[in-house]
Amino acid sequence: MDRQTAFGRQRERFLVSTDLTPRRAADSTTVLSVVMELVHANNAGYVHGGTIMRLVDTAAGIAAIKHARRRVVTVAMDDMSFLAPVYIGDLVTVRAMVNDAHRTSMEIGVRVDVETVPSGETRHVASAHLVFVGLDENGKPTRVPPVIAESDDEKRRQAQARIRREQRLVRKRALGEAASEAR
Ligand SMILES: CC(C)(COP(=O)(O)OP(=O)(O)OC[C@H]1O[C@@H](n2cnc3c(N)ncnc32)[C@H](O)[C@@H]1OP(=O)(O)O)[C@@H](O)C(=O)NCCC(=O)NCCS
Repeated sequence: MDRQTAFGRQRERFLVSTDLTPRRAADSTTVLSVVMELVHANNAGYVHGGTIMRLVDTAAGIAAIKHARRRVVTVAMDDMSFLAPVYIGDLVTVRAMVNDAHRTSMEIGVRVDVETVPSGETRHVASAHLVFVGLDENGKPTRVPPVIAESDDEKRRQAQARIRREQRLVRKRALGEAASEAR
């Protein structure tokens, strides 16, 4: 089979996977490490917040695909604060894992740490929660597998993810109602 056909078949399977067997949160673990270069920073040598946000979205997207084994899209990113600056030469490590899944949506927790390589000094620079939705072959939201939380940390994150989900839905409903009243 030529490479193009093999790729096409693999992609087709990816788009139509219907395996909804519950999966362990830990199986979605994703770690990205990138050294910050000139292209990531402004003239003063500080890394752009958008560079970090892009890495966060990428790591979270990979974790979501590992869990759902299908195409996913970012639907929301909760407030993200930058706790410390990042400089050219720093090693940025982004860790992502699925916290919880509902019908078609998943919450992914992401933590960003930075190491100043020569000194080995590390610092926590950001954390975020993102919501991804699994899509079917027509680009419509489709079911994703439930999450099995095993460790105490995973159980805590799953319980907190459920509270955040309720809050997002309340906010979305309230904003929708305010928009209809204003029309
Ligand atoms: C994702 C998308 C298909 C969802 O469409 P929709 O009409 O809102 O679909 P639904 O109402 O069925 O919602 C699907 C799921 O998303 C969740 N959701 C929708 N809007 C949300 C929001 N603002 N925050 C959190 N979750 C949200 C719903 O709760 C639902 O989850 P559930 O099935 O687990 O209960 C649509 O919003 C979309 O295409 N967005 C653009 C995504 C994209 O292009 N991202 C890349 C950014 S460039």
